[in-house]
Amino acid sequence: MKVLVATEKPFAATAVNSIRAVVENAGYTLALLEKYTDKAQLIAAVADADALIVRSDKVDAQVIGAAPKLKVIVRAGAGYDNIDLEAATAAGICVENTPGQNSNAVAELVFGMAVMAARNMFDGTSGSELKDKTLGIHAFGQVGRNVARIAKGFGMEVSALDPFCPAEVIEQAGVKPVSDIKNLYSQNKVVSIHIPATPQTKGSIGYDLIASMPKGGILVNTARKEVIDEEGLRKALADRPDIKYVADVKPDNAAQLEQEFTGRVFFTPKKMGAQTAEANINAGIAAAEQTVAFLKHGIDTFRVNR
Ligand code: 3PG
Repeated sequence: MKVLVATEKPFAATAVNSIRAVVENAGYTLALLEKYTDKAQLIAAVADADALIVRSDKVDAQVIGAAPKLKVIVRAGAGYDNIDLEAATAAGICVENTPGQNSNAVAELVFGMAVMAARNMFDGTSGSELKDKTLGIHAFGQVGRNVARIAKGFGMEVSALDPFCPAEVIEQAGVKPVSDIKNLYSQNKVVSIHIPATPQTKGSIGYDLIASMPKGGILVNTARKEVIDEEGLRKALADRPDIKYVADVKPDNAAQLEQEFTGRVFFTPKKMGAQTAEANINAGIAAAEQTVAFLKHGIDTFRVNR
């Protein structure tokens, strides 16, 4: 059996070594396709693959159609919006993610970016501190929970909104549950976005929410660019010169925003949230172990296309 690891943005070398060990110990062969630049390379590589491990790599119907032996796709990470679930399900392929494995890495980046914004992008002028400021966490999943944990160390006042998470779970983490999204944005100086990109959430954060943020508001997006209504964001930044937007990865209108709002926006050039050796090792090993468990025993605990 052949397990293909296809990563346009490669894992750290130590993570690849660990993945190789798990796959080879199971008696399977590991194939690596790293830093590929063309979808045709992925299409060629999946031709004889029984399993596919990816990160944000796009696995669409064409890729799935080119992989007749494929039984399982594991997204080494949380968000699986890059995988065509319908096409995979129709082809009888199990799709899994590895929830929680890279969440601390993303949460730490939230604070790296929040501090940078609070310190005026390190431009030498007097900024502000996070201590005693309000933080609103938009979705209390694995990343949101790590953000809450770290925020306490900063001495922030933390609230969270998550319609899929019971209020008691949020309270148990010492966080104030919020039920109205309008309150989450209008009552918190820093808002950190952790919702997945789904048909329901795409473009859901726009002018009204962003422009309602308190004076000096900082919006941190380490989720997906697609959840932002980019024109609404632009208008909000234009109307509210005190608001800043920092994001782990560039919006489509990045060049325009950088030009119009210099010093108030920052975008990572490549998605950086999970780009740590630790996150790569955690997510990579989990993906390899889940792949082996599925191929050997049909175990599909983290299946997302039931
Ligand atoms: C995730 O969904 O797990 C993160 O966005 C990380 O994505 P990456 O593996 O492409 O860095």
